[in-house]
Amino acid sequence: MWSLILHGGAKEIDPDEEEAHRNGCIRAIEAGRAVLAGGGTAVNAVEAAGRVLEADPTFNAGYGAALNSDGEVEMCAAVMEGKEFNVGAVAVIKGVWHPISVARAMLHEEPMLLASDGARRFAADKGLELCDPADLIPPQGKASTKSRARDTIGIVALDQYGDLAVGTSTGGLEGCAPGRVGDSPQPGCGYYADNQLGAVAFSGDGEHIARKVLAARVMQALSSAQTAAAGAEEVLEPSLREVEAISGEAGGIVLTSAGMSSWAHNSRDFAVAFMTSEDNNPHVFMRKKDEGK
Ligand code: GLY
Repeated sequence: MWSLILHGGAKEIDPDEEEAHRNGCIRAIEAGRAVLAGGGTAVNAVEAAGRVLEADPTFNAGYGAALNSDGEVEMCAAVMEGKEFNVGAVAVIKGVWHPISVARAMLHEEPMLLASDGARRFAADKGLELCDPADLIPPQGKASTKSRARDTIGIVALDQYGDLAVGTSTGGLEGCAPGRVGDSPQPGCGYYADNQLGAVAFSGDGEHIARKVLAARVMQALSSAQTAAAGAEEVLEPSLREVEAISGEAGGIVLTSAGMSSWAHNSRDFAVAFMTSEDNNPHVFMRKKDEGK
């Protein structure tokens, strides 16, 4: 049995952008499904799905990511394996097409997280896809006046071998200070994976998520089997209330070690797609309240 869930960011989605979000999520989950259905690993599925979302300017990751206050794209990403707690992460990296692949390449390296020029140098040494930093800004992005943060992508996968993996990737918050790092590359904040319990990825106001170590809180909730079985309400919603209490906005996706997915958000919208080996088609929603319709 395999299971996969991903999201396109906790944010507001304009009605005329819903189709792009839906299509992007479907393309990404298809990429992950192809890996898992072919007997591939959770970490390969996370990277494959993440690359699709990063290549799509609809989402705030990779190409088309948010611009900082200098008008530049600086990105953060992470990949974590639940079997041996390997973590690979990059922060404020510029000029790479796929930060999630750089993070994945970091998984078995001595340092867990590389930042800025050092992260890009690592990507170059590994032969990963470099670009001019300006190439990450689509033509329409240069003229964008959108001030609303477009936040983070995340993917969680369970493969047929019982291994969990999680990935995050983001351009951070629109207009943020150069050099700023949010929750997305920090384990226990924007993500975590433990084969015995489950895995989680968050999206939203990074400082709030990191202050409240949301991923660590979810892992704690998952350690109570009864709570985990109750789904999103018990596992995710207490952590979202913590963020709300300090005026933050967030959304999260979870997979338990049994492959049960949950998702919740306090942002207006949160594009999510999920699928298991039992499904013929992915389930895709733009917000939680649509799920019951
Ligand atoms: N959640 C992504 C960030 O705050 O950078």
